[in-house]
Amino acid sequence: MTVVLDLFFWVGFPYIALTVFVGGLVWRYSSDPYGWTSKSSEILEKRWLAWGNVLFHYGLVGVVVGHVMGLLIPPTVDAQLGLSTGTYHAVALYGGGASGGMALAGLVILTIRRVGIKRVRVSSTPSDFLTLGLLLGVMGLGMADTVGYTVMFGPYDYRDTIGAWFRGLVTFSPNASLMASAPLWFQVHVLAGLAFFMLLPFTRLVHMFSVPFHYLNRKFIVFRSRHPGRAPTTPGGGEPASAEMWSGEP
Ligand code: HEM
Repeated sequence: MTVVLDLFFWVGFPYIALTVFVGGLVWRYSSDPYGWTSKSSEILEKRWLAWGNVLFHYGLVGVVVGHVMGLLIPPTVDAQLGLSTGTYHAVALYGGGASGGMALAGLVILTIRRVGIKRVRVSSTPSDFLTLGLLLGVMGLGMADTVGYTVMFGPYDYRDTIGAWFRGLVTFSPNASLMASAPLWFQVHVLAGLAFFMLLPFTRLVHMFSVPFHYLNRKFIVFRSRHPGRAPTTPGGGEPASAEMWSGEP
């Protein structure tokens, strides 16, 4: 029975999650291309959004780098690069703890803003609250692993179990027993992470796949006034600062 459950949790469910993730993104993009947006609420409230957003997104960059290091790069490669196990765990604890803490602090601010500020709350959908709740759960559990588990029991070398399981999963040679041997703390975080990927295509988080790199070299957009005689404005609200702005796309 345990073998069947292990196979379900660590082979069946991850592939179901991956299928729903990829299929969901394709379905969402083809059925609702204009709904593929982060639905900015900046117009409703700016100050808390600025703090929460910046902390969350910069922290998340560190978290993603940490996951790539810990899950995709085998410990043998770390050793070849001269990174000892002790140094790896120190980097994971301090680097992961700092970036995870920053992202979680940003997420808490964004959650308080969405729930506490009425005009933001009433313009939110159930999917917005579900997204925030799930992110709080996944990231809270991740921090419990990185900081809580290490402080209570010492460093756990998940690169040999969770990392090896993850690499097996993405190379289509899954091994459930690797994940079954990991501590429950880590197992719960990984299951929550998989559930998060399953729901992502149906939330505003799809915007993460449209990072607007073209903004860097795009021409200015000029907003023309409907009223003749009045100056056209820029997205910031002021008059265009230079003749160059006038040559932008309509
Ligand atoms: C199935 C996918 C995932 C796996 C296998 C996984 C695995 C892990 C592991 C092993 C740790 C401990 C790292 C350490 O102690 O050094 C961790 C920490 C963490 N995870 Fe995940 N995770 C997954 C998905 C996610 C997702 C989707 C998020 C958030 C959106 C997330 C957020 C975090 C955070 C905030 C931490 C603590 C900070 C850090 O170490 O980076 N994880 N995760």
